[in-house]
Amino acid sequence: MSAAPESRFVLRKLIRNWISLAGAVIAVGSFFAFLLLFALDMLSEHGNPYMGILAYVVAPGFLFSGIALIALGFWLHLRQERRAVPDAPPVALTIDLSRPRDRKILGVFIAGSVVFLFMTALGSYQTYHYTESVQFCGRACHVPMDPQFVTSQHSTHARVDCVACHVGNGATAYLKTKISGMRQLYHVTRGDFQRPIRADSTKLRPARDTCEQCHWPEKFTGGLDRTNRHYLSDEANTPFSVRLLLKVGGSNPLHGPPDGIHWHVSPANKVEYISTDDQQLNIPWVRQTTADGKVTEYRNPDFKGDISKFPIHTMDCIDCHNRPSHKFLPPNDAVDLSITSGRIDRSIPWVKQKMVAALVGEYATRDEALKKIDESLRAAYPDNPKVDAVIAETKSIYNANFFPEMKADWRAYPDHVGHKNWEGCFRCHDGKHKTADGAGSIQGNDCNSCHIIMAQGSDEDMTKLSAKGYDFVHIDAEYSDFSCAECHTGAAPKE
Ligand code: HEC
Ligand code: HEC
Ligand code: HEC
Ligand code: HEC
Ligand code: HEC
Ligand code: HEC
Repeated sequence: MSAAPESRFVLRKLIRNWISLAGAVIAVGSFFAFLLLFALDMLSEHGNPYMGILAYVVAPGFLFSGIALIALGFWLHLRQERRAVPDAPPVALTIDLSRPRDRKILGVFIAGSVVFLFMTALGSYQTYHYTESVQFCGRACHVPMDPQFVTSQHSTHARVDCVACHVGNGATAYLKTKISGMRQLYHVTRGDFQRPIRADSTKLRPARDTCEQCHWPEKFTGGLDRTNRHYLSDEANTPFSVRLLLKVGGSNPLHGPPDGIHWHVSPANKVEYISTDDQQLNIPWVRQTTADGKVTEYRNPDFKGDISKFPIHTMDCIDCHNRPSHKFLPPNDAVDLSITSGRIDRSIPWVKQKMVAALVGEYATRDEALKKIDESLRAAYPDNPKVDAVIAETKSIYNANFFPEMKADWRAYPDHVGHKNWEGCFRCHDGKHKTADGAGSIQGNDCNSCHIIMAQGSDEDMTKLSAKGYDFVHIDAEYSDFSCAECHTGAAPKE
């Protein structure tokens, strides 16, 4: 190798300072680490979240800091030399293509740059995709996201990426999430994140950027026929079902009048509200604006505070469907589902009550819970050969819906669709929200305005359908009070 004097001079400068040298070692090392991790990630069948973090976040991070160090060392060195010999001519780089050596160096340089840029592009693309993946969001920081990951995998949205609802489209949204992600990562490493984790859903992207990418409001029409099968907490586990025709309705004026439940999200209407808590449980003030510009304000006179202190939020899908993906089933509903699906034999006396009681205990860890569930059910059915099946099913309900380490279960996360276990629709439709003159109110006590009860009661009763709708017959317990949630808490109801 017979290098020209000047270029050898430049090269020596680059090598002869420790900062650049260290940078070069880091850059080369992390480049090879990236190649290796990348190959492993491509070859492995199931993505491993930690592999992804190393390959697409940590390794490129080191690579770029290595390159930055080389440049920094070089620059510092030049500056130092300039200070030592103030009149020295600036180093000139000359490339003479007539010299075979220069041609060779230039060729290698260009080829190297192309490969490097290609790998960087590929790496960034993979980094982007990786940080958008369910693996990254749900698995990378295992403990805090476990409840939301597990419940989302059981939901209708199991195949929908976390980011489709939590980030939405657009570069700004991506950047914003990544910045808040850094903050979260910091809390995860320190272990001082909230338990349970809460997201104020009014601060999520507006549904038009997320949900409505897949479900657009114009497309809804008609009613929805739904049968809820329940069992009482008595010895016979008596069936008590309700078949509802839900007036979901439509919201596209071209297809018919916007009416029914989805009236709220018709482009022709706007409903705004304020809430005094971050789970939107208390809604003292509502404003409705119709297509012709008519504005109506409703207020709950029980609320004495200052309304202007709270931000006004425009109602969208998430104000009702706030748990589309993370459904933590209340034990009452989960056990009903096990019996309906035949996983639990209804002839086992008191089985509904015993399973619910085992599930709702206050447990500090999953291990403790599973042990206590086993003990209590074994004690309840000492001679019943079906006890193993009961225990197995109860544990599987627990594993899918309870996360004691994160204090995450149905108690932490109210579901706003309906009105049985939480106020839900009755947050506004409680008959208390009135206009200033007291003449108008948000419709409330009419039980047929949102659904009609087509059938209710025992299996036999369920065959007697009424098109007009029945009045609700509430077993034998009284329910003179309008609020169902006062007694129904998701566990065994209060008498
Ligand atoms: C179909 C849309 C959707 C998908 C998919 C989705 N989420 Fe959510 N997520 C929501 C909504 C809506 C809320 C707000 C819940 C509320 O306010 O009650 C939420 C809340 C959360 C919260 C706050 C705690 C809670 O349960 O309220 C976390 C954490 C979270 N999501 C993580 C994830 C992760 C991780 C994934 C992917 C494995 C994911 N989400 C996928 C819609 C979604
Ligand atoms: C990437 C597409 C996609 C996004 C984004 C999405 N969904 Fe869905 N959603 C689906 C699919 C697919 C189904 C299942 C459809 C079926 O079963 O017919 C579904 C089902 C539903 C259902 C009916 C089943 C149920 O769980 O009750 C509701 C309600 C729903 N989505 C609400 C939402 C809400 C609210 C959001 C925004 C927070 C949202 N979706 C975001 C694709 C999506
Ligand atoms: C006022 C509350 C409310 C709002 C706002 C609302 N929904 Fe609904 N939606 C309901 C109710 C209640 C049902 C009936 C089914 C149920 O109870 O889950 C329903 C039904 C649905 C279904 C059909 C579910 C199925 O099982 O077939 C989808 C999908 C859906 N909504 C998506 C949306 C989307 C997307 C938005 C926003 C554009 C939205 N909803 C806004 C209350 C609402
Ligand atoms: C933030 C307050 C709010 C919440 C929460 C809410 N609504 Fe409404 N709703 C209104 C207002 C305001 C109106 C218009 C006034 C009226 O018709 O009483 C309305 C009207 C309606 C109508 C009549 C639409 C028509 O055809 O004129 C139905 C049906 C309805 N809501 C169902 C529901 C259901 C079901 C839920 C729960 C899943 C719900 N609402 C939750 C505020 C709310
Ligand atoms: C503002 C709309 C609205 C009004 C008013 C309303 N409901 Fe409902 N109701 C709902 C919705 C939404 C659901 C949930 C449907 C589902 O997804 O299963 C529901 C569910 C029910 C259920 C089934 C509960 C279960 O878990 O099986 C019963 C029973 C019921 N309502 C009775 C009543 C009675 C009685 C009244 C009058 C006091 C009433 N509803 C008024 C919207 C309403
Ligand atoms: C005064 C308390 C009270 C009120 C208010 C109340 N319930 Fe109940 N409800 C009960 C009790 C107690 C049972 C019997 C539970 C059992 O045996 O497991 C029950 C049973 C039920 C069941 C069948 C079993 C189950 O666990 O799902 C349904 C459905 C139901 N109630 C719906 C409603 C609805 C809807 C409202 C509001 C319109 C309401 N209840 C109001 C106390 C109440």
